[in-house]
Amino acid sequence: MEPRFDIESVNYMLRTRRSMFVAQFDPSYTIADDDVIETILENANWAPTHKMTEPWRFTVFSGEGKAKFAQFQADLYKARAEKNDNFNEAVYQKMLENPLKASHIIAIGMKRSGAVPEMEEIAAVSMAVQNMYLTASAYGLAAYWGTGGVTFYEEAKPFFGLEPQDMLMGFFFIAKPLTDRWPNGKRNPIAEKVTWVK
Ligand SMILES: Cc1cc2nc3c(=O)[nH]c(=O)nc-3n(C[C@H](O)[C@H](O)[C@H](O)COP(=O)(O)O)c2cc1C
Repeated sequence: MEPRFDIESVNYMLRTRRSMFVAQFDPSYTIADDDVIETILENANWAPTHKMTEPWRFTVFSGEGKAKFAQFQADLYKARAEKNDNFNEAVYQKMLENPLKASHIIAIGMKRSGAVPEMEEIAAVSMAVQNMYLTASAYGLAAYWGTGGVTFYEEAKPFFGLEPQDMLMGFFFIAKPLTDRWPNGKRNPIAEKVTWVK
C-alpha cells in the first residue's frame, strides 16, 4: 500500500498532539468502543523496528483490570517504602486512585531480543508509543506517557509479563478530556537544536 499523505494535515497532527494528565481526565467516562483502543494498538505495531524485533509489549487494563493494576502498584510501593522507612500515605493513595480516573491504562514493555543494541529496542518501543499518542490525539482523547508508579521497580516486571532482561517503560493513560479546550503546546525553536553542515 502506498502512503497518501496530506502534508498540511500531517504537520497539524504532529504539532497539535498533546499530553493531558490525570487532572484533565473525565473519570466518569469509559471508552466503550474497543475499536478505538484496538486502533491505537494496531498503529503502535507499525513503528519502525531494526531487524524486525518488534520489541513492544502492551498490557491493557480496563474495567476491573484498572483496580487490579492500582492495587498491585500501591502494594508494591508500600512494601518497598516500608523496607526503606520512607512510606508516604499520599503517594500510596495516589497510586490507588489515579488509575481509576483513566478509561484505559496501557503498560509499556520492551521485550529484549538481543539482536540489536538495547538502545534500538527502547527507541522502537518509544516510536510505538508516539504512534499511540498521535492516534489518541486524533480521536480527541486525553493521553499521556507516565513513568511514575512502579516503572523502575525491578520486581514489577513479572506482573506485566516481562523478564529481567526486559524493560518496563511506563504507562500510557487514556481518558476522555474533562473540557473541550485542547492544551497549547510549547517548544523552544528547532534552530537551537540543529547544526547544519553545508
Ligand atoms: C519518556 C517519557 C516519559 C514521560 N513521563 C512522564 C511522567 O512521568 N509524568 C508526566 O506528567 N509526564 C510525563 N511525560 C509527558 C511529558 O510531560 C510531556 O510530553 C511534556 O510535558 C510535553 O507535553 P506534550 O506531550 O503535550 O507536548 C513523559 C514523556 C516521555 C516522552
